[in-house]
Amino acid sequence: ASTLGAQAAQSGRYFGTAVAAGKLGNSTYSTILDREFNMITPENEMKWDTTEPSRGSFNFGPADQIVSHAQAHGQRMRGHTLVWYQQLPGWVSGIGDANTLRSVMDNHITSVMNHYKGKIYAWDVVNEAFADGGSGQHRSSVFQNVLGNGFIEEAFRTARSADPSAKLCYNDYNIENWSDAKTQGVYTMVRDFKSRGVPIDCVGFQSHFGSNGPPASFQTTLSNFAALGVDVQLTELDIAQAGSTQYGNTVKACMNVSRCAGITVWGIRDSDSWRSGDNPLLFDGNGNKKAAYSAVLSAL
Ligand code: XIL
Repeated sequence: ASTLGAQAAQSGRYFGTAVAAGKLGNSTYSTILDREFNMITPENEMKWDTTEPSRGSFNFGPADQIVSHAQAHGQRMRGHTLVWYQQLPGWVSGIGDANTLRSVMDNHITSVMNHYKGKIYAWDVVNEAFADGGSGQHRSSVFQNVLGNGFIEEAFRTARSADPSAKLCYNDYNIENWSDAKTQGVYTMVRDFKSRGVPIDCVGFQSHFGSNGPPASFQTTLSNFAALGVDVQLTELDIAQAGSTQYGNTVKACMNVSRCAGITVWGIRDSDSWRSGDNPLLFDGNGNKKAAYSAVLSAL
């Protein structure tokens, strides 16, 4: 096939991108989007500061624009993200009472998932809950500090009740290298969830890589998680300087793991990237295919 999405579909996978609602009207942007990609993640529009800026007052307008676009163009959606310590409004981070925070968190998950019920392939239920460095433990956040370790399980159980048809993912960065303590911490959590019947269907590996690309153990990491009985997905891929070898190796790691369901790059053109100084994407600022594009297409 001659596009990323169609080529990925030949093995039952998807190829997606992050999308900003405000760029849908740009024809260079939307032409590439609709030609190449069959999965969309809203880059910011489903985050808590946008969807529930004050308690009980929901704003779905920006994300609805993206979902409508996806439906009109036959693209599936990843929901990103329900519980995250960043892009979290001050009214949430200031809650100190556990019963209040639990009901606020559960109501947020239920309300957002209800609004998009049946329209989301997979939700990043909890994003970036683990600490960097050697601890292998959860990071500090209002959810961790007020609700304790159980907040992740609580979020996943609530999410399953809200939309039983959506896949429920845990999503994080720097969990691609198998021997890292952070990777091991997430692996231990997923193993525990699977053994106790806590609902979890997938793990998202953000895959924000430096210019060296993925760690040598990336495929091992993906297959070890998959062996726990979850899908794995590359959810926010970008690689500094976008080397062809590095992109090719990343795609091959996914292709070699049958439960690797698909790949999402974190933006379309370099100029769309959150790390645009790194030129980490598959299209240049004019929307032309870069060398890495061909490497990805041949590896799919
Ligand atoms: C980034 C967006 O790309 C930026 O536009 C925004 O300013 C900050 O967030 N991990 C995630 C994503 O899970 O939501 C982040 O997206 C990048 C890191």
